[in-house]
Amino acid sequence: MRRKLIVGNWKMHTTAIEAARLAGAIVEGCGNEDRVSVLICPPFPYIALVGNILTGSQVALGGQNLYPESEGAFTGEVSPTMLLDLGCKHVILGHSERRHTMGESDAFINCKVQAALAAGLQVILCVGETHDQREHGETTAVLQRQLTLGLEGVSAGAVQHLCIGYEPVWAIGNQGTDATPELAQAAHAIIRDCFGRIYGETKAETLIITYGGSVKPENADALLSCEGVDGALVGGESLIAEDFLAIINAGITRPKPEGLFA
Ligand code: PGA
Repeated sequence: MRRKLIVGNWKMHTTAIEAARLAGAIVEGCGNEDRVSVLICPPFPYIALVGNILTGSQVALGGQNLYPESEGAFTGEVSPTMLLDLGCKHVILGHSERRHTMGESDAFINCKVQAALAAGLQVILCVGETHDQREHGETTAVLQRQLTLGLEGVSAGAVQHLCIGYEPVWAIGNQGTDATPELAQAAHAIIRDCFGRIYGETKAETLIITYGGSVKPENADALLSCEGVDGALVGGESLIAEDFLAIINAGITRPKPEGLFA
C-alpha cells in the first residue's frame, strides 16, 4: 500500500510569526507519526525560518516553485540549488496558479521539472483541467497533454522522484463546487493510465498521485480512502493547524482490519 502524502501549500500567506507558529503546531501535532508523509511548502522568504523549526521532525520542507537555472541574472527568481541549500527536499511545479495567473506553459514547466530532478529535488507536478475544459469533455485530453509535455525528456529512472498532483482548477479555493471522491478517483485513474503508457505499469503502480482542491477535514476521509488517491495537496486548510492535522490524520495508512467480521 502506498503511504499517503499530505502537502500543505501555504501559497502567498502568513507573516514570519504566523509561519513559525503554524510550523511549530504541525511539528508538535505530527509527533513521531510515520504512517503518513507530511510536507509543508511555505513562501520563499520563510523557508529558512520554517526549516529550522522542522529540523529533526517528521515533517519535510518544500518550495512552491523554482526557476530552471542553477544561478545567473534572473532577478527575483529562486534556483533549485537555493532550495536544496535551505533544506528543501521537494518542490511543487505546474500549479494551476502558476499556469493560469503567471502564464506558465507546459514547455516552461517541463524545463522546471527537468532542472529540479537534475538537482536532486523531489517534484510534485500538478495537472488539472479548468471548468470549461471539463464541461467540453476535454478532461482526459488536458491531463494527458499536461503529463506528456510536462514529463518530456524525463527518464524512467528519474520518475521515482516524482509525484503527480491532480488539481481540478474549478475545485481549488472553495469556489462552491468540490470534486466528489468518485470524480477524483476517475481522474487519478486517467493519470495513472497515461503515466503507465509512458513509463510502464510497474512505475505507474508505485506513482503517488495526490488530490488537491478544497480538501478539508470534512471531505478528507472520503477522498483519501479512494483507490488511487494517494494523498492531498492542501491550500487554505493547511493554514489552520488543527484542520491540517485532521487531514493528516485522515491520511494515516492503517493496516487493513483482519478477520472475517472485522
Ligand atoms: P485549496 O488549494 O485547498 O485552497 O483548494 C489547493 C491547491 O491549490 O493546491
